[in-house]
Parts: sequence; structure tokens; C-alpha cells
Amino acid sequence: MTEKWHLPAIIGHRGVKAHAPENTLAGFSLAAEMELQWIEIDTTLCGSGECVVLHDDTLARCSNGQGQVIQHRLAELNQLDAGSWFSAQFQGEPIPSLQHALAHIDKLGLGLNLEIKTYQHSPNVMAQAVYQELQRANFSRPLLVSSFCHQTLAALHQLDPTLAIGVLFEALPRDWLTIAQSLNAISIHCDADLLSQEQAQQISTAGYPLLCYTVNHLEQAKKLWSWGVNSVFSDDPLALQVELK
Ligand code: G3P
Ligand code: MG
Repeated sequence: MTEKWHLPAIIGHRGVKAHAPENTLAGFSLAAEMELQWIEIDTTLCGSGECVVLHDDTLARCSNGQGQVIQHRLAELNQLDAGSWFSAQFQGEPIPSLQHALAHIDKLGLGLNLEIKTYQHSPNVMAQAVYQELQRANFSRPLLVSSFCHQTLAALHQLDPTLAIGVLFEALPRDWLTIAQSLNAISIHCDADLLSQEQAQQISTAGYPLLCYTVNHLEQAKKLWSWGVNSVFSDDPLALQVELK
């Protein structure tokens, strides 16, 4: 699957979280302006059944809304401001529906790691919702779908065996390879702070691309790249990009 596309050394995390409100269209545009090739975004379910682009299952941290995302219909979420909390410059920036985000990212020409936040939802329901959104969007750019909820990934693979799946871990478990094989994953994603060089080598030897979150310091990025890590997710790609130019 990855032979179709090349993973870049730096992937913008939640858009470019350090420079624009996370998971917003303005952030995705800024990522393209910074000449990133890929971004990572998070998606979860809202009350009317659509997927929205938001990291949390609650609204307060990244918008002027309150309560659980699942308690609100898409039409209500559309009224919220997801930019002012970050800075006045982004006032009125909406919480994107996944449809709107996919269309925007496609137009920007970016590759996408879509991370599914299942939260309290049934993995089957979550997978079905994402599957239907992807069917509807007809996204044309490289797409890698990941989740910490491995049941969601398994359900998604059943629905569409052609989707490229990345398996997300915090610390890499001993049985990571068995898990990756059982999910038909094509890439391994894990916490940069919890990874050892030996584990990175095992993953490379097994032939899986390795992606690590969240890396905002050049020294750490250089160390990980020297271990064979393919991509680091960064809130602040400008802090790392100097090395690549
Ligand atoms: O997908 C990598 C990373 O985003 C996972 O953690 O909490 O930032 O979504 P989180
Ligand atoms: Mg994420």
C-alpha cells in the first residue's frame, strides 16, 4: 500500500497545532503554506451521526461550546467558534465536519493521516460512520487511517479491505507484530517518548514504516530519524524543518 506514496519526515500534528487552532481548516491551509506534504487530524462522532474533526469528546477546550460532542447535532456544532480560544486572528473558525475537512485537504493537495477517536462509541458504529464519510468524500490524496481503538480498525478493514491502516500504540507492546498482522496494518504509530532504539529497529526489520508522536524538538527528531523512524508528528514543524532544507 505504501508503495503508492512516500511518507514525509514531518507530518503536521492536528494541522499545525502550535501555529493555528488544532483541527481547523485554517490550520490545514497553514500546513500547506509551510510546504508540509501530510497532516494528521482527529475525528469523532457527533449527535446527528456525522463525523466531525475534533480531538476531544467534549467541546470546552477547543471551542466556545460546552458539553459532550455526541450531545450536539452537526447544525449546532456549525455555529460554534473553534478559533478564538487560540487567538483573535482565528475568530469564527468553525469545527469542520469530516466532509468539509476532506474536501479542503484534497484541494490543498496534502496527504492525510486520519486518526479515529472512538471514545465511548461502539467500534462498529464508529467504523461504519467513517466508512460512509470516506465513501461520500471520494478523497483523492494519500490516506492512512489510524486509531488507538483496534476494534474500530478491525471493523473498518472488514468494510473496506483496501484502506491503508496504521495501528496506534502508546508504549509499544511486546506483541505489537501479532496485533499489526491481525489488523492488516501497514504502519506502526507510537509515542516517541516511550520508544527505544531496539524497538525502532525491530519495526524496521519487520518492514513496517514507523511514525512517532509528538515531536517538537529538533534533537529528538534527529535521534528518531537516525533510528529509522520514517515520520514524526509535530505541532511545530518549523522547529524541525530547518534540518530538511
Ligand atoms: O496520531 C498521532 C497522535 O495524534 C496520537 O495522539 O492524542 O495527539 O491524538 P493524540
Ligand atoms: Mg491525533
